[in-house]
Amino acid sequence: MSRRILVLPGDGIGPEITDEAIKVLQACQRQGLDVIIDEGLVGGSAYDVHGEPLPVETLDKAKASDAILLGAVGGPKWDDIDDLSKRPEKGLLGLRKQLGLFGNLRPAILYPQLVEASSLKPDVVSGLDIMIVRELTGGIYFGQPRGIEERNGERVGFNTYVYSASEIERIGRVAFEMARKRDKRVCSVDKANVLEVTILWREIMERLAEEYPDVELSHMYVDNAAMQLVREPKQFDVIVTGNMFGDILSDAAAMLTGSIGMLPSASLNERGQGMYEPCHGSAPDIAGQGMANPLATILSVAMMLRYSLDEPGYAARIEGAVGNVLDDGLRTADIAYPGTQRVSTSEMGEAVLDAFAR
Ligand code: IPM
Ligand code: MG
Repeated sequence: MSRRILVLPGDGIGPEITDEAIKVLQACQRQGLDVIIDEGLVGGSAYDVHGEPLPVETLDKAKASDAILLGAVGGPKWDDIDDLSKRPEKGLLGLRKQLGLFGNLRPAILYPQLVEASSLKPDVVSGLDIMIVRELTGGIYFGQPRGIEERNGERVGFNTYVYSASEIERIGRVAFEMARKRDKRVCSVDKANVLEVTILWREIMERLAEEYPDVELSHMYVDNAAMQLVREPKQFDVIVTGNMFGDILSDAAAMLTGSIGMLPSASLNERGQGMYEPCHGSAPDIAGQGMANPLATILSVAMMLRYSLDEPGYAARIEGAVGNVLDDGLRTADIAYPGTQRVSTSEMGEAVLDAFAR
């Protein structure tokens, strides 16, 4: 039976980068991958048409698909929508929540060809291969109560940082299982010196570790983890953390690899459905200029093939093609440096297609 893939280009550079990724998917289709590709609206572009960042028809299509490829959402055009629930970001957060995509995998891998593009010294980052496992449907992003209200004649903003034991255990298992396929080390990041919710987090991780005696568990406070990521990033194998800490640490980890424009991600639920997106945002400042790096989105297609479609062969070929293009010295602006050949978004996409077909 054909598997269904829903593509949601979104806003800003989203459409440009997903265009290139769709071409790669279609190349797989031509070689026998049995998938049906559909498209939908999300984020600001959905708001413009439907007055909602996550229209019902998009959500229905998403629920009915095996995997979703998302570009990016948001931009200054929608920044002054007063109703927070209509902001583009709510489209993305709504998809994550409604589909139960709790397990967010954000690999930070340094391609050896890009060692010069990193802001850190080559010996600090060369060979870097970290997997950040971020909880994606709970924590302070979704905790209730939340709001802005008047208290004693003054406006007060508040959010709730909450995790249940079962939510912690569920994401912990993802991390331990992932570590088993890698270097068998999990570092759990929390703020257990201050926040009760992460005291519980630490306890649950400790308990879970007993079920995985082959995996080494360590703990780190989030401030120290941020420092260690730029001091000695190769000490990490798998990092597991909550929604907000994971958001912040994954941006830092991304930059170690030279550019956030290189990093794919997968968000998985308990039914094996997944949403795949580049870790970067909609980059409105460069949207429409053909400058954006499509590689994170193309690599997200590879993750989709591996994690939701069980097609590791195609995944490896796409990753290999990206490596070849980098070997050839082709670079979008974000990863360019003297001696390399600067190319546009679509030229990069074409080059990957050529390498894939080779
Ligand atoms: C990310 C993004 C999102 C997040 C935004 C766009 C809501 O920063 O995927 O990391 O905070 O999760
Ligand atoms: Mg982020």
